[in-house]
Amino acid sequence: MPGNRFHLGWFLQGSSAQAWGEPWTGSIGEDWMVPDLFMDMARALERACLDYILIEDSSYIGESYGNSRDIYLRDAIAVPRQDPSVIASLMTQVTSRLGIVPTFSTFAYPPYLLARLIGSLDQVSRGRIGWNMVTGSSDFAARNYGMDGLAEHDLRYDMADEYMAVVNGLWDSWQPGAIVNDLENGTFVDPSKVHSIDYDGKYYKSRGPLNSGPLPQGRPVIAQAGGSPRGRQFASLHADTIIAAVRGVEGMKKYRDDIRARATAHGRDPNAIKLLYLVAPIIGETEEDAQLARRRRADWAVQRWESRLAHFSKITNINFAALDPDCPLGELTTNGHQQSLEEFKRKAGNRTLRQYMTDYESTVSSVELVGTPDQVAAQMDEVMQAVGGDGFLFSLPNVSRRVIAEIAEGLVPALQKRGLVRKAYAHAQFRENLLEF
Ligand SMILES: Cc1cc2nc3c(=O)[nH]c(=O)nc-3n(C[C@H](O)[C@H](O)[C@H](O)COP(=O)(O)O)c2cc1C
Repeated sequence: MPGNRFHLGWFLQGSSAQAWGEPWTGSIGEDWMVPDLFMDMARALERACLDYILIEDSSYIGESYGNSRDIYLRDAIAVPRQDPSVIASLMTQVTSRLGIVPTFSTFAYPPYLLARLIGSLDQVSRGRIGWNMVTGSSDFAARNYGMDGLAEHDLRYDMADEYMAVVNGLWDSWQPGAIVNDLENGTFVDPSKVHSIDYDGKYYKSRGPLNSGPLPQGRPVIAQAGGSPRGRQFASLHADTIIAAVRGVEGMKKYRDDIRARATAHGRDPNAIKLLYLVAPIIGETEEDAQLARRRRADWAVQRWESRLAHFSKITNINFAALDPDCPLGELTTNGHQQSLEEFKRKAGNRTLRQYMTDYESTVSSVELVGTPDQVAAQMDEVMQAVGGDGFLFSLPNVSRRVIAEIAEGLVPALQKRGLVRKAYAHAQFRENLLEF
């Protein structure tokens, strides 16, 4: 018996040349500046009726690994990458139903600027914008904005609670019905329905109202990924969708139960939060093809182990190059992605850094999915039935038109055939589609 329908999204690691050097990427080394690949991607994902595409971001060039930018630049690790607001607004113009979720960090944007930017994007997309709400995870990024470093991990979330109060206030500063567009009486906006917010908090201040007008969705869809206890507390209070990198069905279920319990404790309906897990399916025309592709991906992961570790150095701000690769990990802490580091340490266990990094299992995927489209669809069904919901976020390391087609034209139709994902959007706006089931 197939289970309930679930949601699908795509985790795009920035609009950049991230797939440089991979097969089937055309002339990405020359074309990376122009948006064609990402426009094609948005169209394909809309054709496949995905809920959303999330555009990940960070605004600095990595240099944690070996205290040097060299490996990041040489291997095109998250660089160059463009401002996500540009690619997001372009995507809104080639789609009409897909949710589009750029990442903006609270430390980099004054709340008013963010509220207006997101508000404008929601307008030009006719209500399809989400905001991947992040608090930042690197002092290197903070220094690009004139700060010495980021606030301490849990304090960032305290500040973010206040930040949410400000931006929500700004989005609500136009009451429903404020735009009357009454030519007879010469009134475009009803002045009694537009208010200052006069927010004066511990960390932020803003007067309002927003001068860009109301959002079609009222407030944008909020995406969040905080995985630490404080992060979950925050996400369960504010998020409409949570993206999680948790390994294994048991861990996924535990994570979801925890988020839902926290949401209930906040007085929220837990069904109003859609929790999506990162996956990187390996798909082939036959099972044999898929197993071959898996071996290739494993070889690729092994060959690029240092590059992958440098990427992890970037998100945890830990200089892994300073550790002996042939010793077990030991004690490590971070002011960056705490949950990712915990998961890394748990998975590595007693292995040395090199052993762990050259073991294919260390690549990001909540569960391993390998097979023909139909086999992978069945595996996803099984996982969702065991976890309880709510869906998956594709996170493929080498975005090319071929990789996109494998998902959009191969896997999704197989999922649709089993009745596991939508075949058509029921609504025009993003949140409505997210809450449809
Ligand atoms: C799947 C996933 C996607 C994320 N995307 C971004 C991102 O685009 N930009 C960013 O600065 N942080 C990103 N993060 C980091 C989170 O926003 C958060 O700062 C990080 O997980 C640390 O939170 P924690 O310590 O509560 O786990 C992401 C994390 C995960 C797990």
